[in-house]
Amino acid sequence: MSSEVLSMTQPQRRTASAEPLLRIEDLEVTVHKQHGSVSLVRETSFEVREGEIVCLVGESGSGKSVTARTIMGLTGLDPNMEVTGRILLGNEDLVALAPDRVRRLRGRDLTMVFQEPLSSLDPVYTVEFQLREALRRRERVGRKAERERLLSALREVGIHDGQRVLHSYPHQLSGGMCQRVMIAMALLGRPRLLIADEPTTALDVTVQAQILDLIDRLRREEGMAVLLVTHDMGVAADLADRVIVMYAGQVVEDAAPRDIFARPAHPYTAALLGSIPPMAGERPARLPAIRGSVPDPSALPTGCAFHPRCPRATETCVSTRPVAGEIDGRRAACWHPLVEEGVAR
Ligand SMILES: Nc1ncnc2c1ncn2[C@@H]1O[C@H](COP(=O)(O)OP(=O)(O)O)[C@@H](O)[C@H]1O
Ligand SMILES: [Mg+2]
Repeated sequence: MSSEVLSMTQPQRRTASAEPLLRIEDLEVTVHKQHGSVSLVRETSFEVREGEIVCLVGESGSGKSVTARTIMGLTGLDPNMEVTGRILLGNEDLVALAPDRVRRLRGRDLTMVFQEPLSSLDPVYTVEFQLREALRRRERVGRKAERERLLSALREVGIHDGQRVLHSYPHQLSGGMCQRVMIAMALLGRPRLLIADEPTTALDVTVQAQILDLIDRLRREEGMAVLLVTHDMGVAADLADRVIVMYAGQVVEDAAPRDIFARPAHPYTAALLGSIPPMAGERPARLPAIRGSVPDPSALPTGCAFHPRCPRATETCVSTRPVAGEIDGRRAACWHPLVEEGVAR
């Protein structure tokens, strides 16, 4: 897989603006339960600039969706969840904002496409009603122009029998069709920041490519910032300006795609790409892609959370948590990174 991914790695296409649109600083998400508190996301910091696509990757259960939902202000709605740190959209801190103010930003400045389409479509309204509401949050146009806009939004996501779809209720459409309607709805409002959580997983490859192209075009033409959650490293290689690798609720590596794919620093990143060389001097073992599974947040390993699965782990990794630091032009949290001072091991 890594060679296939490498061939897809492309040079940076655009220069993004200097100021980040979204800046996450020391984000922590904790769920308080009867029998104690469980940390779902820790020490998480990263940025997304205008016109930039940042991909958040990692195995299932790494904390990607919790992070995405927290940025949208949805985690904070659960009284058992505690969010600390800062989520700066421009210069407003979403963690500190009142929920109704965040609600106003949602759907206008920031929109999210969920993994499950039915969670964001309302079963009691037609598609037309819901799309119209989304458009009206951004602008008001005449009835006829409005309908044209809705049909063209549907065409952009590959729906050509728009008339029928507009008159349908969500339950009358297939899952894939709902997913496309939801994406059309999110993009109609021309948000400044789109958070897309595995937006195309349920769609066939042709439609998937079409939707990713559309997202790519909107960020280029309109400067939309995108946080794209994906488990598909090929998608990340193709679209990302930066790749953020999450494991067990933490960012383990944050780097430009050319670095991630050509010379991953964190053994977990290397494992995701299908190769994980042991430390220098050790006998190379044949390893399955990644043995074991993501730990449960309520039973995190000591030290580095990846140590039980890492062939490079030492005593230090078992006892002490690595702090994210600059390694060869990127940020990684590892005691034994695969690159050091510009030299790949
Ligand atoms: N509301 C919640 N209460 C308790 N645990 C949760 C809650 N939501 C998510 N989790 C746990 O947090 C971890 C990360 O989940 P998630 O962010 O959905 O992973 P990913 O999107 O990377 O697959 C998982 O172990 C999941 O079970
Ligand atoms: Mg998820």
